[in-house]
Amino acid sequence: MTSSSWDPQRYQGRHSYVWQFGESLLELLQPRPGERILDVGCGTGQLTAEIARSGAEVTGLDNSPDMLAQARKNYPQLKFVAADAAGFQVPEPFDAVFSNAALHWVKDQPAAAASIARALKPGGRFVTELGGKGCIASIISAMRDVFGAEADQRRPWTFPSIGEFAPLLEQHGLEVRQASLFDRPTPVEGEHGLEDWLRMFCSSYFRGLSPEQTRDALRALADRLRPALYRDGVWTLDYRRLRVVAVKPNR
Ligand code: BEZ
Repeated sequence: MTSSSWDPQRYQGRHSYVWQFGESLLELLQPRPGERILDVGCGTGQLTAEIARSGAEVTGLDNSPDMLAQARKNYPQLKFVAADAAGFQVPEPFDAVFSNAALHWVKDQPAAAASIARALKPGGRFVTELGGKGCIASIISAMRDVFGAEADQRRPWTFPSIGEFAPLLEQHGLEVRQASLFDRPTPVEGEHGLEDWLRMFCSSYFRGLSPEQTRDALRALADRLRPALYRDGVWTLDYRRLRVVAVKPNR
């Protein structure tokens, strides 16, 4: 992941769907024994470990010390490095760069594209999934209702369209082979699922608020979002995903 204040226990406990959904992305990556693969925004390392199970030599990269500490505790046999997705250098290039549910947290996506392209060998591939244009539109709109003009300044994500993201890769010499933008309604556990999710992923909106103000804001958000997102005891969030496969051409 690519934000500095994360609660890794909460992330890997109630929010395991983040990498469970990411498992299908591994089918696109098709890691092979002996390949060198970089997992950008590896979080607590579950998909890094899946990649390692294929026999590939994998490195997890993240900029959150808390997430990395948990990843190292979970998988002491794997290699994890601290770095920012938007400005890293690698000592030796990789056969593939993989990134699941991380790049929408990166403010400078052009810089991330540059780092990723630089990290690939000629012929290497980049396989990613991130939140895409329109992701959690209902939540972003409710944030504007509750927090007013400040909401957009506090929004930590960038959700690009295919037309916005593909050129970032092309500008750094990558050839975009596949790109899709699709809805992926995402259920979150239980009656308090929305509140848990907001506390986990939306802390930038609540920064500086007292516990009472936070509680009131959470209540106001739930009231606004219930008609659209809550049905039969389940909150289902309006996620949209952008999946991209790109290749660095052989010279
Ligand atoms: C995600 O992890 O995929 C995600 C996080 C926050 C907002 C939308 C998506």
